[in-house]
Amino acid sequence: MIAHAGGDALPVVEHPHLLKNYNRAPITIVRGEGVWLIDDRGERYLDLVAGIAVCALGHAHPAIVGAIAAQASTLVHCSNLYFHEPAGELANKIAALTGFDRVFFCNSGTEANEAAIKLARKRAFRLGQTERNVILACRNSFHGRTFGALAATDNPKYQEGFGPLPGGFAFTPLNEIAALEAAIDEKTAAFIVEPVQGESGVIPATREFLEAARGITAERGALLIFDEIQTGMGRMGTLFAFQHFGVGPDAVTVAKALANGLPIGALLVTEEASVALQPGDHGTTFGGSPVPCAAALAHLNLRDRMDLDAHVKEMSALLFAELGSIADEYPERFEKPRGIGLLVGLPVKPPHETKPIVAAALHEHLLVNGAGHNTLRFAPPLIIGENELREGMRRLRRAIAAA
Ligand SMILES: Cc1ncc(COP(=O)(O)O)c(C=O)c1O
Repeated sequence: MIAHAGGDALPVVEHPHLLKNYNRAPITIVRGEGVWLIDDRGERYLDLVAGIAVCALGHAHPAIVGAIAAQASTLVHCSNLYFHEPAGELANKIAALTGFDRVFFCNSGTEANEAAIKLARKRAFRLGQTERNVILACRNSFHGRTFGALAATDNPKYQEGFGPLPGGFAFTPLNEIAALEAAIDEKTAAFIVEPVQGESGVIPATREFLEAARGITAERGALLIFDEIQTGMGRMGTLFAFQHFGVGPDAVTVAKALANGLPIGALLVTEEASVALQPGDHGTTFGGSPVPCAAALAHLNLRDRMDLDAHVKEMSALLFAELGSIADEYPERFEKPRGIGLLVGLPVKPPHETKPIVAAALHEHLLVNGAGHNTLRFAPPLIIGENELREGMRRLRRAIAAA
């Protein structure tokens, strides 16, 4: 690998054969333990990124490792032409925990959203409403990088040069109820919304907005889809954000933390909405493979035995307090932190930027990342302890002072 100082403050590393589509930091990670990542020189990094909200129970959790190993030595792959136990058991568990009737498994977040988009359109088609094909999303949304999800992503940075994108996508501002009222009509197949916009800088939806979305979509015959790829699996201090907000969508998309690090995505739907997709309408070779399903099941079973939601709320209060006092100390550099649970953003005031802080944090062996709208994002493993979080904040303060 060739390390070089890029134009940015954070030096990037190039590899001779990997595609250059990522700006990777100049470290090579070889191992993970709880909230720590360890590099090839044995240096330990406190991980407040967690794979971007993936490793909820931390790295190399022994019970999940055990479930993966046991499943890998029994059955690694089974075509979706047949049933296998891990997918069936996981679907039962998800249904019991969420109240959704049916689950479709895939391999990633963007695929879960593709499935949701296809289901919404096919549902309208089956109802004979062929004009109802518009997917309404929010301004500044992020739903993934494949074409359907990308078309629902309101960010020119991700879309530029990839056109033509599929048509039939529209956007409405987050948290503006009157605009939502005007935007949803007889052509709207679904409204898809992130309960907290993660990529665009940790911007929470309001309860009023989500409640209004529930009412308006139901009244006008459109589906309400929550993209919980970043907010799901305990990050809000509830299993899903829809439970935090007390608003019941027709469908929820999940990925990231579901299997605590193995690739899996899921679309959760009500029985009524689920009938849109019939045999042959949609599918995937690897979706819902036995090993990721076993890992996800182990994750959910472990959660049952932990008081994780209370812990997340406690650590969230501490993180908000710490970041709030940093914002008070540096009023010219930061706004007040925002977010819910352990998905928290610290907005940086221009002309200051996140990049020098992320680079200085790396120097302090602290991993944080920059999200949209010039925001430092904190999405630590949910199992982070008080001492680890306080240590992270000490390192962050040093990084801010140095940046
Ligand atoms: C809200 C949201 N939706 C979709 C995605 C895409 O997920 P994936 O990267 O697994 O395709 C992400 C990833 O960051 C996300 O945060």
